[in-house]
Amino acid sequence: MIQILDRNFVPYISASEIQQRVKEIAGKINEEFAGDPPVLLGVLNGAFMFFSDLVKHLTIPCEVAFIRISSYQGLQSSGKVIPKMEVTDDLKGKRVIVVEDIVDTGRSMEYLLQVLAGMGVPSVSIVTLLQKPDALEVEGISLDYVGFSIQNQFVLGYGLDYNGFGRNLPEIYVLK
Ligand code: IMP
Ligand code: MG
Repeated sequence: MIQILDRNFVPYISASEIQQRVKEIAGKINEEFAGDPPVLLGVLNGAFMFFSDLVKHLTIPCEVAFIRISSYQGLQSSGKVIPKMEVTDDLKGKRVIVVEDIVDTGRSMEYLLQVLAGMGVPSVSIVTLLQKPDALEVEGISLDYVGFSIQNQFVLGYGLDYNGFGRNLPEIYVLK
């Protein structure tokens, strides 16, 4: 068990399980995007660790870009997505793979898809390390690659935070 701020967390997904899954997902991207270089769009801050591990296993030509949005406060979604930083590159006409840490209510992804459509992005695929299927509140979002489907519980580590802390942990923990 570990303590982060005022809460206790227990181990949930080990570093080796994560790394194994990251490699599998990269393998699928290598197959699907061979001959059609994508831009990987990392969603900051949460996806930074997954993003960097994932791209290390890509053998196809690719570009990277980032956007920063925020919606979580403490242990739950605020229901509002706040833009914190615009997309770092012009993605018009490009094939984009959005790389997220977790899809929870789906509101962040819904917002992102609108931003990308507004930029003139013709093709968007979505990769997320985690998904909480029971927490989804929006319709019409199809996730192309999901690392782990998890229960509707608060998790932290491997990029995911509790009030800014815990992102540096190499494995994923769940609230006790
Ligand atoms: P959504 O908009 O509700 O789908 O949530 C999107 C964002 O909230 C994710 O990209 C995460 O950054 C954050 N988030 C959702 N669930 C958790 C969690 O269990 N722990 C930490 N952050 C989370
Ligand atoms: Mg995120």
